[in-house]
Amino acid sequence: MPKNSSVLAFVIAFLLWAFFVLPTTGLAGHLQPFKGVPVWHKNPTTPAKVELGKKLFFDRRLSGDGTMSCVTCHMPEMGFSDGQSISLSYPTTKNWRNSPTLINVVFSKYLFHDGRVESLEDQALFPMMSSFEMNQNLDFLEEEIRSVPEYVTEFRKVFGTDDITRERIAMAIAAFERTLISRNAPIDLYLAGEKDALSSSARKGLEIFTGKGKCSECHFGVNLIDDKFHALNVPENPDFQADPRVAATRRFVAKLNHFDGYRTLAEDPGRYLITKDDKDWRAFKTPTLRDISKTAPYMHNGIFATLEEVIEFFDLGGGEANTAIKPLGLKADEKDALKAFLVEALAGEDIVLQYPQVP
Ligand code: HEC
Ligand code: HEC
Repeated sequence: MPKNSSVLAFVIAFLLWAFFVLPTTGLAGHLQPFKGVPVWHKNPTTPAKVELGKKLFFDRRLSGDGTMSCVTCHMPEMGFSDGQSISLSYPTTKNWRNSPTLINVVFSKYLFHDGRVESLEDQALFPMMSSFEMNQNLDFLEEEIRSVPEYVTEFRKVFGTDDITRERIAMAIAAFERTLISRNAPIDLYLAGEKDALSSSARKGLEIFTGKGKCSECHFGVNLIDDKFHALNVPENPDFQADPRVAATRRFVAKLNHFDGYRTLAEDPGRYLITKDDKDWRAFKTPTLRDISKTAPYMHNGIFATLEEVIEFFDLGGGEANTAIKPLGLKADEKDALKAFLVEALAGEDIVLQYPQVP
């Protein structure tokens, strides 16, 4: 009977969703405490792989001129970001976007502000190849790593082979990134039942976050994200509009993504570059808010230096002509409470890394 089988299929789909998807994403409006990290069957995390990935993450061989490692733009002491509005870049070039935190990146379905990549293994090779980031040739990098005896020994130990490839380099780095987790934030303790874990102003902020402020319509679940893209029409960053090096980067990326008008492009098209769907024009990924006080400045282009500015932006209903959000009419004390929530409640324990000995 087709009717029964479709009911059965629905029930099975619901159960799969409820058991496997819901626990890591969550329902709109609901925040969830950290419980654990999803397991990556295609690239299981092992201590030796994580150690190797950490070395590579710190290794300047990954850049063409030997001056940059992943840490250059994702510094442990800056919440794995770089503190710049527009990220650092390869000498003589200029980046065009803010360096996002890598904390809790394990929970993101989409990577990059425009979500153009969906796994850390695929992501890791992009900055190495990027002309305006590390500008490295991957064939050359493989030979460089293959010529270091310590790496040969470690790759053999981790992957059971002497064949050092770009894919295995990326796998090790991804395994390391999956260990960067925000733990024991006051919100986790609070949601687990410790009502004193939040101050009274942070508790009031939480109420606004999930109520009048409507923040949790997009920032929810464990990682305060929705795995979606929204055109809030964040203002363009005037500081880099006039810089010809940024224009070169913007046009280069647009051209790579087959954007016809790339030579006259003056804005960041965001998700549109990937989907070519009008609704994605200037839409960007909802970012995590975990450890948010450690990763200023904010938004894909670092346009806001402080959380006060971000809250003001949302209170006024977002950027010009956006249809995603509406003005909130928050009072001064409500904005203060919201800030207290973001700063206090979402701050996990500092991730302290033993700096590796790069061979
Ligand atoms: C020159 C600065 C720079 C270097 C070096 C760099 N990154 Fe990034 N990283 C960025 C910027 C900027 C973005 C956002 C780019 C975008 O969205 O288009 C980013 C994005 C990412 C993301 C996506 C995070 C998210 O939440 O979407 C990951 C993961 C990442 N980088 C890992 C790495 C790794 C691994 C390395 C070393 C192999 C590295 N990065 C080197 C600047 C850098
Ligand atoms: C419609 C979905 C949506 C709603 C509602 C929303 N946000 Fe966001 N939020 C986003 C998106 C998308 C971005 C990234 C925009 C960009 O990079 O240009 C963002 C960025 C942020 C950032 C900057 C994060 C960073 O690392 O740069 C903060 C802080 C933030 N939101 C807090 C809030 C607060 C507080 C509220 C409620 C007052 C709120 N958001 C409501 C979607 C939303």
